[in-house]
Amino acid sequence: PGTGPVLAIESSCDETACAILSAEGVCLAQRVVSQDGHADFGGVVPEIAARAHLALLPGLVQATLKDADMAPQDIGFVAASTGPGLIGGLIVGASFAKGLALSLGKPFVAVNHVEAHALTARLPGLVPEGAAFPYLLLLVSGGHCQCIAVEGVGRYRKLGGTIDDAAGEAFDKVAKMLGLGWPGGPELEKLAQCGNPNAIPLPRPLMGRAGCDFSFSGLKTALSQKLAPYGLDPLPHQFAADLAASFQQAVADVVADRVSNALKMMPEAGLLVAAGGVAANSVLRARLEEVAADAGLRFAAPPLRLCTDNAVMVGWAALETCQEAADLGLPRPDDSTVRP
Ligand code: KG4
Ligand code: ZN
Repeated sequence: PGTGPVLAIESSCDETACAILSAEGVCLAQRVVSQDGHADFGGVVPEIAARAHLALLPGLVQATLKDADMAPQDIGFVAASTGPGLIGGLIVGASFAKGLALSLGKPFVAVNHVEAHALTARLPGLVPEGAAFPYLLLLVSGGHCQCIAVEGVGRYRKLGGTIDDAAGEAFDKVAKMLGLGWPGGPELEKLAQCGNPNAIPLPRPLMGRAGCDFSFSGLKTALSQKLAPYGLDPLPHQFAADLAASFQQAVADVVADRVSNALKMMPEAGLLVAAGGVAANSVLRARLEEVAADAGLRFAAPPLRLCTDNAVMVGWAALETCQEAADLGLPRPDDSTVRP
């Protein structure tokens, strides 16, 4: 919309990220720091995350500008995620972005973090034939597990979501029970490669039921009961691997079933898109590809670095929402107008 390159900041959880995109959405530079300091606690500590964003952002933004060979004045506007997420980190990122915008005399644009995940697939060149509206988005991360009908910029319809844990949360908790490091998803996937996915019977919550809600807490409990006989003793490696593989299979079965229902609820969808950290899971991706193929649809998942939290998606969502606002003759989305 003639606003020039955007410098975007993401700080809603434990990734501190900055990216610069051209007005056309070409990524000129991007950096992500996955904060350390949380692993000892087995999860993200909001206070530590907020302080780390504060310490990391100035250097990160300078380095990203240098990567793009740009001076701050070359930026057209500044964008940041302003929610949903951990409030401390969001305040740090948004205040930093606003301060930068103010000092440069450029506009500040607020971005909804979930909307940024939802629009990532539309980044130029990402999906070979493009991601035209409408499409079905499965957002599976540490904090979210939802099926969303993406009908246009700013036009989202939640078809279903988790009634307890997010999928990533379940991966992380189960990984912890198996004595793996954090974040648990990638570690669990690695261990599952040595396991038999049919070795240990586990429930498939909500599978076969109408709608596309999700539930993972019962699956987590069922798994913890399989561990009970071992008490505090270390688990035999093969048993742990079989549990990991069986859990991953159960999640993939449930998600495939729920998404296939969601596609029936949205017959107008032209594409199935997966986003969020759990979409990095290769077993899940393979199943989603099958679900899409069964419905006669293409399947697209952003590359792993764009599936997990990053600032490229924030910059892209800022460009798309500014364009949409311009098309509708509305003011640029700032933090007073950002969609909840
Ligand atoms: O989207 P994301 O980076 O952050 C938010 O939660 O917003 O997602 C992180 C989540 C974590 O729970 C992590 O364990 C999970 O994504 N994850 C995975 C894999 N890679 C990351 N879960 C399963 N398999 C993976 N390969
Ligand atoms: Zn996210």
